[in-house]
Amino acid sequence: MWHELILKLTVAESPLSRSGVFSKGPDAALRRFTESVSFDRRLAEYDIQGSLAHAEMLQRQGLISANEWDVIRQGLAKIGDEIAAGKFAWREELEDVHMNIEQALIERIGDTGRKLHTARSRNDQVSTDMRLWARAAIEQINAQLLALQQAFVERCAADLDVIVPAYTHLRRAQPVSAAHYWLAYCEKFERDRQRLNDCRKRVNQCPLGTAAAAGTSIPIDRQATASTLGFEGIVANSLDSSSDRDFLVEFVFDLSLVAAHLSGWAEEWILWSGVEFDFLQLPEEFCTGSSIMPQKINPDVLEIIRGKTARVYGALSSLLMLVKGLPLAYNRDLQEDKPPVFDAFDTVLDSLELAAPLVRGAALKPESIAARLDEGYLDATTLMEFLIAQGIPQRTAHHQVGALVRQAMAAQVRLANLPLADFQAIDPSIDEAVYQALGAKNAAAAFVSTGSGSPAEVGKQAALWRERLASNSGYSSAASGD
Ligand code: ARG
Repeated sequence: MWHELILKLTVAESPLSRSGVFSKGPDAALRRFTESVSFDRRLAEYDIQGSLAHAEMLQRQGLISANEWDVIRQGLAKIGDEIAAGKFAWREELEDVHMNIEQALIERIGDTGRKLHTARSRNDQVSTDMRLWARAAIEQINAQLLALQQAFVERCAADLDVIVPAYTHLRRAQPVSAAHYWLAYCEKFERDRQRLNDCRKRVNQCPLGTAAAAGTSIPIDRQATASTLGFEGIVANSLDSSSDRDFLVEFVFDLSLVAAHLSGWAEEWILWSGVEFDFLQLPEEFCTGSSIMPQKINPDVLEIIRGKTARVYGALSSLLMLVKGLPLAYNRDLQEDKPPVFDAFDTVLDSLELAAPLVRGAALKPESIAARLDEGYLDATTLMEFLIAQGIPQRTAHHQVGALVRQAMAAQVRLANLPLADFQAIDPSIDEAVYQALGAKNAAAAFVSTGSGSPAEVGKQAALWRERLASNSGYSSAASGD
């Protein structure tokens, strides 16, 4: 008799996942070890959306009554309001966000609440929540990437005629418009947006109703829940659905490339804003000082953006390790997907939010750039191309210009300072026109190929970018029709 009483008490206090099969409550250490509510509570909004769509479908299928649907809807709405207001009491013993919300519903509306989990498992529920969350996360990253592209494009008009070195091997190579750099980053972030848009297609498939691993014998309508939740389609195979986290690995890979692009840019601007380069003035409100050296103005935001890239790559490798070697279908290991995914997203979003104002607030230092622009023989390749235009074979012209550069280096002069006779020694038909190819500014202006760095070509590209971004789409979303 008292045995039965203890069993009843234990069951009543147990988390929802512990059915009548258990005769004991969970160990306290197990509870702490297995809980995920401390980090998955940020899915609450999506968990409620999913439950609402599910309950609505149950009602349409005649699996719950119209009145029950109404009671569930109101109950979930109130819980949602409490969570949003920060007044909801999260309980670790209820393990995760799903059971916290379901238990709260049962406590408020009684037995009707116990019907919500009909034809559903936490396995399809958590996957649904993560997909809804990832879909919104992609939109947020996409919007920030667009804002950063806009910040770069807005700089182009003012910086178009500032000529800076292009580098290879971090050695001076050829002269280009500074705006060519800005648009180079626009292209990289555009590919990032395209990748995210593509990832979104795989994120946007509804797993709800695949239940634990095998589906359900209850006549549900999966298409209905999918369309209520705005999914493009439904996940076809219940085993695949229950085990699949590809969409999160892919999302974090896409975030990793955004982080890679941000860190390359950050590194470049750290260099450009130091005295050695002295190309760029960073906005002071994004710099920090030193506690001992009074003169220091440090580029900490850029350094931290570069540094945080490590966390994002760490998240990607954690996720790849997590999904390695898992047999079908759901395994509890998968609960560990959330901390790295959330961290990668938060990190990249924070970095992007700082990057755009930094790009807007920085100023090039044209005088300082110009003062040393003619060091490093940036015009040598344009001179070689001038010789090619005179009919000299490329390999020969390359050798001849190399010899001229050597001569100029020895005399510590620029190519433009060499007398005409030195050029005529190569080809007697060369006249004063050669000097129009010399000097970094002239050399930059000489580029005519599509995608090159002359102010004229870059100006055309900038106009295209302005048009694309004004329609608020870039090429990516226009192409995907999202
Ligand atoms: N917290 C779990 C997760 O994030 C939810 C699914 C749990 N399913 C289960 N059968 N224990 O993956």
